[in-house]
Amino acid sequence: MTVWSWLRLAVCLWLLRKAFRLARWLPLLAVAIAAWPVTIVAAAGYIAAWLRGWPPARLYRTAVGFLPFTALWLGLEWDRQGSWTGIGPAVAGAWGRGWSDRNVPGETRAFLLVSLAAIPAGLALAGLAWSWRNYAVNSGIGGWLASAPVTFDARQWKRQVRAATGRCAAPGSVPLLARGGRIPVGGTIRAIGHRWHPVFGVPYTACARHMVVVGATGSGKTNLMMRLWAGWFTAALAAAHAGRGRPPLLVVLDCKGGRDARVKADRTRRLLYAAGPGGWRSGPTRPGCPYGSCRRPTWPSCSTR
Ligand SMILES: Nc1ncnc2c1ncn2[C@@H]1O[C@H](COP(=O)(O)OP(=O)(O)OP(=O)(O)O)[C@@H](O)[C@H]1O
Ligand SMILES: [Mg+2]
Repeated sequence: MTVWSWLRLAVCLWLLRKAFRLARWLPLLAVAIAAWPVTIVAAAGYIAAWLRGWPPARLYRTAVGFLPFTALWLGLEWDRQGSWTGIGPAVAGAWGRGWSDRNVPGETRAFLLVSLAAIPAGLALAGLAWSWRNYAVNSGIGGWLASAPVTFDARQWKRQVRAATGRCAAPGSVPLLARGGRIPVGGTIRAIGHRWHPVFGVPYTACARHMVVVGATGSGKTNLMMRLWAGWFTAALAAAHAGRGRPPLLVVLDCKGGRDARVKADRTRRLLYAAGPGGWRSGPTRPGCPYGSCRRPTWPSCSTR
């Protein structure tokens, strides 16, 4: 055997191996093309999760959030057609029209007709694919280089920080106090061992327990504490007015001091008065109001009850 013929044999074997590998993906590709509305949603969901650094759970939750609309649509279709059996052919017909009307309005119409089924299915698929990608890279079975898990994690971290920063900057997304007496702290970058929420919040009752804030110099510890104080004071005051618990008492001792201590103290005072007692409006005092005898204007709820 000459070197040339050996080389040709090796190249042919390599091409055959690659062809077999590709052939394994062909049925999947055919299914992806056939179910194009689902594929489009799945691709969009996957890219969004990748760009924003979302955990797969966010895609699953969004898919579940769509299910009531799907159920409503199924109910309306059932009501219109009088049976469940007609819904499948109706969806298949809408999908088929997308193949026959090969223009933008026709395909848009077909997509919209099947969207209430395609969106949850696509998002769930995107969640599965994104979950698999994370698992594959982190476990070392995906990626070209040995450093792939580290590079992937560092890039995802950057994207997650960018997304969390954007969330904090969006007006109203991180209010002083959220529903259920939770104090929003800021956009969540990453949650480990806990359920991921776009905005991390602590229940105001947690502030009455021991708490430690750890961070590098200038990382925002004091600002965070000011936010927690204001949120806690507002929530505790509202609870006291609702007859749940005693009126709040907040004593702050600045043991660090420093040049900016007075500026920070002044900012804290202004924030607390704006959020808590200073936010009161004058009005008739509710009987039993813990602040009934104080000289400050009354809490808004006093004027309404
Ligand atoms: N959530 C935030 N968004 C934007 N800027 C912030 C945020 N929190 C703090 N900062 C800014 O970061 C700087 C430092 O904040 P802060 O004084 O709270 O940090 P610190 O950790 O208490 O610092 P030190 O260790 O010196 O006490 C301030 O200029 C503040 O305005
Ligand atoms: Mg500080």
